[in-house]
Amino acid sequence: MKEITITKPDDWHAHFRDHEILAETVSASARQFGRSIAMPNLTPPVVNAELAKAYEKRILEHRPKGSDFTPLVTLYLTNATTPAQIKEARDHGVLAAKLYPAGATTNSSNGVNDISKMESVFTAMDECGMLLLIHGEVTDGDIDIFDREKVFIEKYLQGIIHKHPTLKVVLEHITTKDAADFVIGCSDNVAATLTPQHLMLNRNDLLVGGIKPHYYCLPILKRNTHQEALRKAVASGSSKFFLGTDSAPHMKDQKESACGCAGCYSAPAAIELYTDIFEELGALDKLEGFASHHGADFYGLPRNKEKITLVKESWTMPSEVHVPGNNVIVPFWADQKIGWRLKS
Ligand code: DOR
Ligand code: ZN
Repeated sequence: MKEITITKPDDWHAHFRDHEILAETVSASARQFGRSIAMPNLTPPVVNAELAKAYEKRILEHRPKGSDFTPLVTLYLTNATTPAQIKEARDHGVLAAKLYPAGATTNSSNGVNDISKMESVFTAMDECGMLLLIHGEVTDGDIDIFDREKVFIEKYLQGIIHKHPTLKVVLEHITTKDAADFVIGCSDNVAATLTPQHLMLNRNDLLVGGIKPHYYCLPILKRNTHQEALRKAVASGSSKFFLGTDSAPHMKDQKESACGCAGCYSAPAAIELYTDIFEELGALDKLEGFASHHGADFYGLPRNKEKITLVKESWTMPSEVHVPGNNVIVPFWADQKIGWRLKS
């Protein structure tokens, strides 16, 4: 196959960050996606309707001319979130709220300390049709970093889903066979997003032959058997799995550091990387469902009307992306070959 045309895809998990870097992150996503879920882990976090609408406005101010790219802003759940705040945000068009266990990842210190105290918030979300997006990792110091997703599912997720069977839940950026199997075994109200890095890499790629800070993200890459299970899950064509890049830019010096930040900036080549993956899997016929149909259907939104075309043409991801403030980001897959190119 030399060319593939699919419905314009959406990204159901992206970090645009804020202010001047939006010029870079918003155009990188708008190049390929119709819509992106904009994660709320800003400083300070997006905790109510007013902050969400203001963030949406700042993103839209950086939308390239002529583009109809639509950011879907989300709410950041804290210990202090109230059912009234949920309903108000839903009334203002906010479709989803993100649950970060406090301390699980970048800018999650304002996240939730005690998930059992969130019952009335989850009920309000269910009642008003707001989706619950979950960073599914426990933060207990005695739980090994490679086990944190599996333990979260057992300790919290099963209970949330049991108590709120009609609440729509997305387990974000899944990294384990345990998570893929769990989602497959749940009702149609539970789905998962998958990133390019967790489909392309495993922990050997991160750690063997020298540590690769640009492959460090959270949840951390797992062993190859988990990677294989994730690849099998997307190749199956199941509508429970859809595209969420978790594109998460950090400046080069903060990644290449003695205490490096978690996150891979994959937006510059996201749809091309996913196309490479589905081609390798012999499942190019499943790309459109994963990238363009399943997420919209799960969120209850119309599928995009436009199409995009990818051409089989090898190119190399640049080493660096220059951003305002004299800063540099190393994009995911820097200096490496990509087999498909988006036709402009
Ligand atoms: O690697 C990650 N980076 N994982 C997350 O959950 C957050 C993200 C970020 O915001 O940098
Ligand atoms: Zn994320």
